[in-house]
Amino acid sequence: MERIRVGIIGCGSITRFRHAPEYQANPYVDEIVFYDRNIERAQALAEEFDGRVVASVEALYQDPSIDAISDCSSNETHHIHSTNALLNGKHVLSEKPLAISIEHAEEILEAQRKSGKKLMVDHNQRFTKAHQKAKQLINNKELGEVLTFKTTFGHQGPESWGIDQSNATWFFKKERSHSGVAGDLGVHKIDLIHYLLNDEVEDVHAFHGALDKKNEHGDPIEVCDNVVCALKTKKGRLGTASFSWSYYGAEDNSTTVYCEKGIMKIYHDPEDQLIVETKDGEVVRYQLEPIQTNDNQTNTGVIDAFVDAIIHDTVPPVTGDDALTSLKVIEKILR
Ligand SMILES: NC(=O)c1ccc[n+]([C@@H]2O[C@H](COP(=O)([O-])OP(=O)(O)OC[C@H]3O[C@@H](n4cnc5c(N)ncnc54)[C@H](O)[C@@H]3O)[C@@H](O)[C@H]2O)c1
Repeated sequence: MERIRVGIIGCGSITRFRHAPEYQANPYVDEIVFYDRNIERAQALAEEFDGRVVASVEALYQDPSIDAISDCSSNETHHIHSTNALLNGKHVLSEKPLAISIEHAEEILEAQRKSGKKLMVDHNQRFTKAHQKAKQLINNKELGEVLTFKTTFGHQGPESWGIDQSNATWFFKKERSHSGVAGDLGVHKIDLIHYLLNDEVEDVHAFHGALDKKNEHGDPIEVCDNVVCALKTKKGRLGTASFSWSYYGAEDNSTTVYCEKGIMKIYHDPEDQLIVETKDGEVVRYQLEPIQTNDNQTNTGVIDAFVDAIIHDTVPPVTGDDALTSLKVIEKILR
């Protein structure tokens, strides 16, 4: 395939800040077609990103000129849109978390197998420069084997990110978000740990709670806003993780990997995004690129990787199976 046209379902923040600008900048994408059940949102983005609007999701599925669809709807409809898009012969880039249950995620994977189309999931943490560099050092065993790790992802909460900037946001609703901060931020770091360590979290002990966020009625939200957990991987590594919507200061997106011959500190320092300290006292500081935050949107590389997989007919770098594996860990955390 030489060039593609794409459709986007859901025209909220992730579409405005990442999918639409990154498709627009991609040289292989000829057109972006927007759909949102709130048509004004679709119209606003079509104007901003020089695209076209359709009035129904069926019109996207049935448009033979559209090759691929980004599913940027809220969590509870991923299994509907992504499944239908695949079964209508479209490649799909689904937002995370892949679905609000394992059964729904499996439906999407089944549709991918039946259709033979590409399915990628937006676990964008893998693509950042410091994570890429850390992965390379781990693969090359520069510091020997990984023994333990700790990872964190926390910010002020989605009510200052989503298109509905209020405490009535769907992110706070059980039937729409399902997993709160665990599925919003936690799933990114679980995917990252799987990717960096070539390993899989197998055993989980966790606490989660709604410690601070209130809904539009002033009551505690129905999903967790904080998670802390201890993790054990299949290869026997031990780690800790914390995910929070109540870090009321700078975003914390940091990971530390403790190895036989030293330590890797990732995104602890905004200037030196990767710091390697060896057992014998050497310190190497890498200046790569600041990580994307809600206030600093840079190209994630995810859209380019998805388009690339379609153009060159290769397996996308984050598959449905990868996303399902991480989702299973999130379900264990919540249990
Ligand atoms: N990969 C990332 O780093 C990242 C970051 C933020 C959000 N997300 C994910 O992206 C998805 C969207 O999040 P957002 O921040 O853009 O939310 P948002 O609330 O800003 O926007 C969601 C949009 O989708 C529309 N929508 C919802 N359900 C729909 C449906 N069934 N049909 C048509 N339109 C529908 C809403 O009207 C709204 O305009 C979520 O799954 C979220 O978890 C991923």
